[in-house]
Amino acid sequence: MIEAATVQLEKLMAHHDANANRQTLSLFEENPDRFQTFSAQCGELLFDYSKCNISPETLQLLFELAEAANVSEKRAALFAGAAINTTENRAVQHMALRNMSGAPVIIDGKDVMPDVLAVRQAMARFAEAVRSGDIAGQGGKFTDIVNIGIGGSDLGPVMATAALGPFHDGPKTHFVSNIDGADILEVLKVVNPATTLFIVASKTFTTQETMTNANTARQWLVDALGEEAVVNQFAALSTALDKTSAFGIADDRAFGFWDWVGGRYSIWSAIGLSLMIAIGAKRFDEFLGGAHAVDQHFQNTPDSVNVPLLMALVGIWHRNVCGYDTHAVLPYDQYLHRFPAYLQQLDMESNGKRIDLDGAKVSHETGPIVWGEPGTNGQHAFYQLIHQGTSVIPADFLIAAEAAEHVGDHHEKLAANAFAQTEALMVGKDEQQARSELADKGLSEADIDKLAPHKVFPGNRPTCTFLYPKLTSFVLGQLVALYEHKVFVQGAIWDINSYDQWGVELGKELAGELLPVVKGEQEPTGRNGSTVGLVNAFHAMRK
Ligand code: F6P
Repeated sequence: MIEAATVQLEKLMAHHDANANRQTLSLFEENPDRFQTFSAQCGELLFDYSKCNISPETLQLLFELAEAANVSEKRAALFAGAAINTTENRAVQHMALRNMSGAPVIIDGKDVMPDVLAVRQAMARFAEAVRSGDIAGQGGKFTDIVNIGIGGSDLGPVMATAALGPFHDGPKTHFVSNIDGADILEVLKVVNPATTLFIVASKTFTTQETMTNANTARQWLVDALGEEAVVNQFAALSTALDKTSAFGIADDRAFGFWDWVGGRYSIWSAIGLSLMIAIGAKRFDEFLGGAHAVDQHFQNTPDSVNVPLLMALVGIWHRNVCGYDTHAVLPYDQYLHRFPAYLQQLDMESNGKRIDLDGAKVSHETGPIVWGEPGTNGQHAFYQLIHQGTSVIPADFLIAAEAAEHVGDHHEKLAANAFAQTEALMVGKDEQQARSELADKGLSEADIDKLAPHKVFPGNRPTCTFLYPKLTSFVLGQLVALYEHKVFVQGAIWDINSYDQWGVELGKELAGELLPVVKGEQEPTGRNGSTVGLVNAFHAMRK
């Protein structure tokens, strides 16, 4: 963190210490308009952070932190296509993929928009032809699409296809990511080779999991239909088009993107093809439109109502000032059931860093552990800890005003649960109230003494709520882009590179070294005792 920002963070810590006993509920008593003041709109989407323990003074100090960390200048550099991914010397311009303004986007002196639009149009032509049956397999119209990819080449399409389930009118989609053969096996059991399209999604086209699964799928298809099926029933999404053609994929079925699109930011690119086939090109454009609206909001909205900036600052307050380690994402929207998993890669692969832009070790915490599950399921699993555990877990709640699909009064019950949880977490229940409730039930004084401590809820536990009209393609685009820019702002304040991912490399290298050892082709010599012991035990158990 740069010096001026560190000074500002220290001011925030002193402010926190001076207000150590502050109750969020009392902030509502001080300001009857707190909900209006501590919420902001991005289009129709409402972001409420009034249930966080943030006073006007806290907020002012947080804005000053953003200023001290040069967030505006860094945002301008991001949108200007500067090479802000410094360890890979790359621009970060996934926003160009959803640029609906007609304005040029310059990277390295070149307007990238003509290429972006050409790929998007080619994708749309292909997707619509697959949907209509004009492009078909050996057995006729494609009934099934199998996207083979991992990380950013999987999580975005999986999450978004699930999220937009009510609009899914294309072929059935399946996603294979894990190198565990069970993943592809279960899909191959249920699809018909003659009517299945395989999409190999990989930015690099070298990832072990994806190439292993792609080769297994290729062999399965060739065994069933012959070599000639590959050219018809495989497509590829990659920045490495030389490698896709070497795999046998026809050039007009290979959709490219560029090194300025990070894997975890690639759902807007050709990587979105399986989503586009599922929901159609028009709805895919709406998805891009929602994200583009957020890009404009992020650049043009004043700080006080700038939703991604506020999300980031609230997160910094919780992580760096209050010292909370994790951040829960709790969609009260079953269609968003993969959203927490998607955000895990977005946030943790981006901001899980301990070295700053100058190569020095950071002197503060960076990205939190992100996790979550949809409500109300989580309520019956881990909410006990959120309400009464020793860790405070800031949480985002997400809920639509209107259900994507109506079933009786399910949605009203779902919403009541979401609002109840955030209220319970903030208001809590003190011992006096717990005791009087037990007394009302007729318990003896001795039993009240015994039970009351267990019935106390400390409250004052922070939550933010996202309320949106309905989970449409546009709203989903908004939600994803809001979190992307939140991650950007936090990385900017921490002065880290949010756009590389060196931390995933060592394990990959060692897996490569260990493969011949696991296969029994090499002795496990020269390694640590535990790994040698495990490999030997593995071999012994297989005999
Ligand atoms: O896990 C590391 C990673 O490089 C991610 O950043 C990326 O999304 C994923 O692997 C898949 O990479 P590729 O699209 O090149 O197969």
